[in-house]
Amino acid sequence: MTVFKMASYSGSQEQNYETLLKQLQTLIEDETDEITLLANASALLNQFLEHINWVGFYIWKDDELVLGPFQGLPACTRIAYGKGVCGTAFKERKTLRVADVNQFPGHIACDAASRSEIVIPVVIKDQLYGVLDIDSPKIDRFDEVDQQYLEEYVRIMSQYLFSNLGN
Ligand code: SME
Repeated sequence: MTVFKMASYSGSQEQNYETLLKQLQTLIEDETDEITLLANASALLNQFLEHINWVGFYIWKDDELVLGPFQGLPACTRIAYGKGVCGTAFKERKTLRVADVNQFPGHIACDAASRSEIVIPVVIKDQLYGVLDIDSPKIDRFDEVDQQYLEEYVRIMSQYLFSNLGN
């Protein structure tokens, strides 16, 4: 594998996300292992996103969401269907952008520093696979542009996972 090149991310929010998506393409086209890919996908987001304290994946296994590759403090290992922000986004099959986690009934506090959160379901060929979860210590950290590009990030990853997981 080639050495990871840091990018400057000095443009507009949209330009920076476009750079990030190109970096993701480069990272994933080199790799077919599922865990490896998710690990690098979380590490790439961690060095890109400012003001976040946790980023990672929960994967649907044996009827619950199980902690997958992530960056941040050790976290809750299992989340039930429909529980917390992760379980709710998974159940509703839609992105949840929570401006203030204390206002979200049933929010699961894994890191006490978290104030806002975005959770994006990962769907592979119409099958729910898991979620991407990102936490921030800032209230209302994630805006519409973050949501749009993070959904695209997950979509690119999902397409690649589908074509490389023996489906
Ligand atoms: N806050 C999440 C739990 C996972 S941690 O944030 C890493 C939730 O409410 O589902």
